[in-house]
Amino acid sequence: MQTITRTSDLRRLVTQWRTAGERVAFVPTMGNLHAGHGSLVHRANELADRVVVSVFVNPLQFGPNEDFAAYPRTPEDDARLLESLGVDVLFMPEVDEMYPRGQEATARVQVPGIDSILCGAFRPGHFTGVATIVAKLLNLVQPDVALFGEKDYQQLMIIRRTVEDLCMPMEIVGVATTRETDGLAMSSRNRYLSADDRRVAPVIFAELERTRKAIEAGSNDFAGLEQTGLEALKRNGFRPDYFSIRDAETLGEPDTGGDFVILTAARIGRARLIDNVRASRRR
Ligand code: PAF
Repeated sequence: MQTITRTSDLRRLVTQWRTAGERVAFVPTMGNLHAGHGSLVHRANELADRVVVSVFVNPLQFGPNEDFAAYPRTPEDDARLLESLGVDVLFMPEVDEMYPRGQEATARVQVPGIDSILCGAFRPGHFTGVATIVAKLLNLVQPDVALFGEKDYQQLMIIRRTVEDLCMPMEIVGVATTRETDGLAMSSRNRYLSADDRRVAPVIFAELERTRKAIEAGSNDFAGLEQTGLEALKRNGFRPDYFSIRDAETLGEPDTGGDFVILTAARIGRARLIDNVRASRRR
């Protein structure tokens, strides 16, 4: 595995691969890798000849009072894991390399509407930061396929919209959420959980699952189900931002037919956890 920090070196290498007719997969991350990232890399290996993984904690997607400085950075462990997974290139740029004019002055990618609901309502500017860095990274790597976790469901939809609206010629693949045995979705931010918080954290998935079953059993009382979910989270010591049932394709208000996604974001201690599950009446 080669570790590259310069955009020019990355472009040169990927151009060589493409000239040789090789298919390239790309997995963007912010590092502090866990088994969830491992499953993205595993799928990337199945889909392409070459795999590039980026590790970049993107300041543009953090608000002024968020955890940019504290975000866990474990570059040596990340490199070891990626090497063992057969990754070809680890791209690990400094902030200046990605924002040479400074992050305030950089051109931005905005996906209006969908960027200001759910997490976007609580983290203003977050999804513009995500869409901007992902567009930059995709333009640099120009992969045939890029892979993202379904845990960040709204992020995945925003990335799909970015790629579609900006006519970027690549496939975006969503990979199912990897969970701990008790259901907690794997996340770098699980590190922020105290032992007590970690014990109640699986309540998030349990509540999402309870709601999924109610929807699949035919309940159309979406407001009531959302309220029950919020109350259950609060009862267990969470401070929920939202617990919401949406149309799985648009993230708009749900219709009574079709596919649904139930999404939540909830704070506990220092951590803000997000998760979602899909529900379908088509099965
Ligand atoms: O999901 C993440 O880790 C980040 O939001 C991403 C997609 C790597 C962009 O910084």
